Amino acid sequence: MDIEVLRRAPLFATLDDDAFRLLTDELTEVDLSRGASVFREGDQGDQLYFIVSGKVKLGRTSPDGRESLLAILGPGELFGEMALFDPAPRNATATAVSETRLAGLKNESLNALLRNRPEVSAQLLQALARRLRRTNDSLSDLVFSDVPGRVAKALLDLADRFGRPATDGVLVAHELTQEELAQLVGASRETVNKALAEFVQRGWIRLEARAVVILDMQRLRQRSR
Ligand code: CMP
Repeated sequence: MDIEVLRRAPLFATLDDDAFRLLTDELTEVDLSRGASVFREGDQGDQLYFIVSGKVKLGRTSPDGRESLLAILGPGELFGEMALFDPAPRNATATAVSETRLAGLKNESLNALLRNRPEVSAQLLQALARRLRRTNDSLSDLVFSDVPGRVAKALLDLADRFGRPATDGVLVAHELTQEELAQLVGASRETVNKALAEFVQRGWIRLEARAVVILDMQRLRQRSR
């Protein structure tokens, strides 16, 4: 398994090479194609996952079947830990949005690691606090920002994490359909499409299949405030 990306993840930064090698012996590889689910909301869980490559969306379904996305995660990030720390069914459905490779770690193995290496707990707490901060920001945006503002913010956040320099701007290969982008922003597809079309018309972005090129970062940032 190509675990170099995990070696660089903050969670494992404090482990020496021997401890890291021992940990990787415990990991199991999971390969997924786009649209394949790792687990579903309500399932029982006995392991958590690190993303080695690709992207995973975490989503919830309303009783009437509508979908909402909590987060898009990429390489080096982890998910599926809530069922371990607060035993309860899975809080969201995890689905690959591109070809994705995961490394699964059983709860017993993580517990043993945390017992032997308390410094890993501190890193884990930091990752959870960062997630809560992001969730609070999204919650405030749902109340305080209009849809174009939320779309601008979502694009900037995706650019921050997945963006790569392109000749005329920053290429963000987010891998999401417009429907998924709308689910992430918490608005209808029509309203999100309208906001995207307006940004295109103003020359701030260019749309590509499951990607966007940000041409004017500054204007987009102003619109996100
Ligand atoms: P678990 O409940 O085991 O399975 C679903 C996972 O989704 C959960 O663990 C978390 O890892 C992840 N998750 C839940 N809520 C959020 C959120 N707001 N942001 C990012 N990830 C989340």
